Amino acid sequence: MNKLIIPLVACIACAIIVSVTAVSVRPEQNLNIENEKKIKILAAAGIETDKVDEEFSRIKTVFVDFETDKLVTIDPAYDHIKAASNPNLSTVIPKADDIAVLKRRENIGTIYVWVDEKNAIEKLVLPIRGYGLWGTLYGYLSLDSDLNTVRGIEYYDHKETPGLGGEVDNPNWKSDWYGKRIYNDDGSVALYVTKGASSTDYEIDGISGATLTTNGVSNMIKYWLGDNGYGPIIKNLNEEIEKI
Ligand SMILES: Cc1cc2nc3c(=O)[nH]c(=O)nc-3n(C[C@H](O)[C@H](O)[C@H](O)COP(=O)(O)O)c2cc1C
Repeated sequence: MNKLIIPLVACIACAIIVSVTAVSVRPEQNLNIENEKKIKILAAAGIETDKVDEEFSRIKTVFVDFETDKLVTIDPAYDHIKAASNPNLSTVIPKADDIAVLKRRENIGTIYVWVDEKNAIEKLVLPIRGYGLWGTLYGYLSLDSDLNTVRGIEYYDHKETPGLGGEVDNPNWKSDWYGKRIYNDDGSVALYVTKGASSTDYEIDGISGATLTTNGVSNMIKYWLGDNGYGPIIKNLNEEIEKI
């Protein structure tokens, strides 16, 4: 019995040290995650800077009620990703509409808008997410002041295979998004990732060996920019932004 006391005490002491360390570094980890997201939001809009907080302070973070398609004022600490898995703050997406395989959509979304001194929109960033091959890809899509031309795309979290679906992070592929158009003349989402090289303003270059991931990318663009996502608010954003 005596022989067991020392290893037992050592085990308990180690467990306590590991737990205390894990808890004490958590705030810093959360801060790093937040900072990383801010860097990606800025990168989607074509901004690379060391002064992340300073640049971020120029952005209006606004909240979209997907039910009314109006901007609403809520607690700035609101986290739309957490809300999406909370049954009280999200809605089940009917299967037929769930082209991005999300299952639930938050009732209130978050978007990031740059405005000039007259409150005119200069550009914006929309969070997007959807299933690829191995899991959900989380990212941001940025649009120009016409709310139709793409400025950039960035993913901050995904499980796709490096060298295949993971090429969504390749700067060459991302650069093909710049200047592409989302909506065609009848207002429907026309942008998608093609197979092979793109040849129109509504096409993005395919990624070879990664058709399943890129189908997921096309589907999440269609969902989030469409009628069940940001589509309706985008059409009213100039008027809505003046109210807040
Ligand atoms: C180990 C492994 C990992 C793969 N990872 C991906 C991936 O991340 N994304 C993807 O679309 N396809 C991936 N694939 C390939 C798909 O199974 C499929 O063949 C491919 O998407 C078809 O694309 P293609 O039409 O461009 O060849 C992977 C295949 C293997 C064997």
